[in-house]
Amino acid sequence: MNNNSFHLTRRNFILSMGAFAATMALSPRDLIAEIRHPIQRPIPSSGELLPVMGMGTSRTFDIGKNQVVRNQLTEVVQVFFENGGKLIDSSPMYGRSESVVGDLLKATGKQDAVFAATKVWIDGRQNGITQMQESMQRMGVEVMDLMQIHNLRDWKIHLPVLKEWKEQGIIRYIGITTSHGREHEALERIMQMEDLDFVQFTYNLEDRIVEDSLLPLAADRGIATLINRPFQRGDLFRKVRGIALPDWSTELGCQSWGQYFLKFILAHPAVTCVIPATSKVHHMEDNMGAGFGRLPDATMRQRMLAHYESL
Ligand SMILES: NC(=O)c1ccc[n+]([C@@H]2O[C@H](COP(=O)([O-])OP(=O)(O)OC[C@H]3O[C@@H](n4cnc5c(N)ncnc54)[C@H](OP(=O)(O)O)[C@@H]3O)[C@@H](O)[C@H]2O)c1
Repeated sequence: MNNNSFHLTRRNFILSMGAFAATMALSPRDLIAEIRHPIQRPIPSSGELLPVMGMGTSRTFDIGKNQVVRNQLTEVVQVFFENGGKLIDSSPMYGRSESVVGDLLKATGKQDAVFAATKVWIDGRQNGITQMQESMQRMGVEVMDLMQIHNLRDWKIHLPVLKEWKEQGIIRYIGITTSHGREHEALERIMQMEDLDFVQFTYNLEDRIVEDSLLPLAADRGIATLINRPFQRGDLFRKVRGIALPDWSTELGCQSWGQYFLKFILAHPAVTCVIPATSKVHHMEDNMGAGFGRLPDATMRQRMLAHYESL
């Protein structure tokens, strides 16, 4: 079944629920969210449960005032929350994205439902403080759920500020990020030395280097993991274009290659949450589908990897 058929099936389901929902205070979409339970994982440092499907905002949320584009992205955000999503990841590095997140949370009335995550990405203590204050204003949150140091930038300077802010309740969790396999040795040392709540790095079927050390270390140290570039910025889809999903993957509830890629990641026991980015409503519906139903066991993950590598 491809993305479109998943979309149609869901739409048909929404329509068929319409009459029933009309008798209740819930909209059909809210009703679906009520009766489906998204997979969640605990944040090790607190035990707080987080839905495994989050969303990224790099490039996709860097948009201007065009109302058509904004309406489309508003629906992307609505579909995210309707399917149990919570964590939205942004950064001052992503142009207008933080402000657009703030605007769309307001437009959808989801300011209280979001688990807001952003980053500090600048050199110097005071510059960092000013940037983080601006980020909170842009995203429209009084408390930032997760503040991360972007790409380890000036981390020795920012980390003490983040610890103070956590003490003061200005932020709830502290994290640090990398991507593309960069600076893993330095990150490993920081994870060993410091008390972090979250770490973020790249993991997908093409880029599995974090299986060797960072994922097991995160599990050992009780650090939650956010997985960026789960589609290798879309490269995974280019590899499987025109190729049918193997029949056996539907046993796992995979209705698309997107869900195949995401369920492979989510089934790693050290993964807490994955943050794919999309500008399209039907891609968001597709991606969120990976956070429901079954996840592959270790044998099935090996089969998924071997099959992908044989293509
Ligand atoms: N150092 C860091 O801290 C760091 C580095 C990189 C990324 N990140 C974070 O991680 C997030 C995700 O990484 P990313 O945005 O680079 O890459 P990604 O999520 O791997 O890929 C995004 C691309 O996949 C496409 N896509 C999404 N869902 C799809 C679907 N179901 N079917 C087909 N295509 C689909 C999107 O296009 P459409 O818009 O057409 O759907 C987009 O071009 C970022 O947005 C950011 O928040 C952090």
